[in-house]
Amino acid sequence: MNYRHAFHAGSAADVLKHVVLLETLDLVLAKPKPLFVLDTHAGEGLYRLTPQGEADDGIRRLWGRCDTWPMLRGYCEAVGRFNGTHLRDYPGSPLLIAGRLRAQDRLVAVEEATATHAVLQQVLRAPHSQIFLGNGYHALKALLPPRERRAVILIDPPYERVTERSALLAGLKTALQRFRQGIFLVWYPIKDAHDAERLVSVLSALGENLCVELLTWPADIKSRLNGSGLLILNPPYGLRKKLGEVIPPLAQILTRDGTPRYRIR
Ligand SMILES: C[S@@+](CC[C@H](N)C(=O)[O-])C[C@H]1O[C@@H](n2cnc3c(N)ncnc32)[C@H](O)[C@@H]1O
Repeated sequence: MNYRHAFHAGSAADVLKHVVLLETLDLVLAKPKPLFVLDTHAGEGLYRLTPQGEADDGIRRLWGRCDTWPMLRGYCEAVGRFNGTHLRDYPGSPLLIAGRLRAQDRLVAVEEATATHAVLQQVLRAPHSQIFLGNGYHALKALLPPRERRAVILIDPPYERVTERSALLAGLKTALQRFRQGIFLVWYPIKDAHDAERLVSVLSALGENLCVELLTWPADIKSRLNGSGLLILNPPYGLRKKLGEVIPPLAQILTRDGTPRYRIR
């Protein structure tokens, strides 16, 4: 497998995922108790944006105009920490998470590709963070339950292998058996609406959940990616309300054909 996230860094899918991730963390971190965060598919951590990549349809639509949307300020500031006035680099999930954590919290970021793992080791140097080379699904079994007894787990696979969905489902079932109360954020692509719906119905049967989807193109056209979603198992109290505030403007900003499309259920 030779998936590289660099091309997708800062895309509309990244923006949705990272906005939801930060909103979730902010709610959970409102309590002083220590938090464990597991990022099972971590990526490189920091990406130099290029004109060929997908950031034009994502972060570049907000950048420089963040003041217009106060509800997106937290996310804009998090990206801004890696940039001056000019948008040059885009932080991935491990750096965004590390930027939120306090001294009592802990992050484990897992990455399977050796070269990607090596880059992540260079850019993620926060004292409360560990980086593992290996399979993120195995980490679900090995690292749960955490000693903190409170955890947010981001599962962000590339969906390039035919076995990805079965590995995801098996990994989640094991994780929930070991740690029923974990907050799991599972990202998924929407290329074919029926296909995405099948995955959501299987995942949502695993427990109490919240599902958010944002389409940048109509669901039935044959683009490479029409949108994406996150299924959140055991969503923290207040997340539905927060998403009700941030997702509508985000859908307005990220639509490619002028029609905002999103779903929170
Ligand atoms: C979509 S990217 C991650 C992006 C990152 N979560 C972010 O938001 O910035 C997926 C990453 O998972 C890695 N990967 C693929 N399969 C994996 C597995 N089973 N365990 C851990 N990492 C995996 C890929 O090499 C790739 O770097």
